[in-house]
Amino acid sequence: MNKCVAFHSYKGGTGKTTLACNSAILLAKKGYRVCLLDLDIYAPSFQLYFSKEPRKWINDFLTSSTDIQDVMIDVTNGLSGSQSRSDKIRPINLVESNDSEIKGKLWVGFSNPQKKEIFKLETADTDTKRQAIRRFIHLREILMSEFRADYIIVDTSPGIRFWSINSLAIADILLLTLKMSDLDIDGTRMVAEEIYRSFIELGSKAFLVYNMVEGYCIPQQAISDNDGFLHISTHPIAQTSTDNGPITQLVRQQDRLDVDGLERLSANLGIEIISYIPCYCDIQFLRKEFLTVINYRHHPFTSQIEKLIDVL
Ligand SMILES: Nc1ncnc2c1ncn2[C@@H]1O[C@H](COP(=O)(O)OP(=O)(O)OP(=O)(O)O)[C@@H](O)[C@H]1O
Ligand SMILES: [Mg+2]
Repeated sequence: MNKCVAFHSYKGGTGKTTLACNSAILLAKKGYRVCLLDLDIYAPSFQLYFSKEPRKWINDFLTSSTDIQDVMIDVTNGLSGSQSRSDKIRPINLVESNDSEIKGKLWVGFSNPQKKEIFKLETADTDTKRQAIRRFIHLREILMSEFRADYIIVDTSPGIRFWSINSLAIADILLLTLKMSDLDIDGTRMVAEEIYRSFIELGSKAFLVYNMVEGYCIPQQAISDNDGFLHISTHPIAQTSTDNGPITQLVRQQDRLDVDGLERLSANLGIEIISYIPCYCDIQFLRKEFLTVINYRHHPFTSQIEKLIDVL
């Protein structure tokens, strides 16, 4: 059965684009036909991830008679580990993988990052907006029928702006992404109650994704034993974060995290937590945004994305 999955958040910078791009690639690697859409119309960023120069954009599809076939770019063959080779800093303790075989297909639809194009969509008159909405509703149908997409993965803008809400309207699964160090419980509650509730009533499913959970990057600690000798020990979470065990257990080891509070929030909103993804600072230092699942197949981030897509 085909599905449309949207990554959304109340606040910006929670990892939506990173998670959307990496999930889409991993699904394509596994053999699915995937369409990945940059519906963060206000701040497009897919060109940081995929080095492409689109001739037509999602903006053109929405505001003119441009076909979606002219917008979607097949990137399946261009996915390789080459991006990371130019980086001076590499993820710790990892070898690059050259396993970039993609069994399925990946098409990407880019939004135009030019200021005047963003402004044009934002300030469009009512008629243009109405036409854009009509075309937008068809987008899902066309991708499912003409591209025979198993998955449509949608990256959205944070908050409750016009295009973020419309992007949610075409999704079967809404992934509300929260950044652990920057939780905005009130904002998230508002989004969940006022926006998600109505989509859930119409049959969509919603889940919470906690991203950038602290612990993985905590440095080694020197511990002195009873005889006064110093021992270097790795933080328990760093030691075990590559294990296959449930990440919740790892998080529970952290005193500073109010995991019970997060679970209470989830119970309170009636939205299940689907994933806790640690903050992997090593990959964050890469020169370009990262497609870790391609470049670093053995990185624990890749196993977290594997688990996430398994649930989808
Ligand atoms: N699990 C993670 N570990 C380490 N870094 C991460 C992780 N997830 C995301 N990041 C980094 O966090 C930053 C913000 O991520 P990203 O751009 O995906 O967020 P976003 O929600 O799409 O932001 P915006 O709302 O501005 O579109 C990026 O530099 C990304 O590399
Ligand atoms: Mg983004």
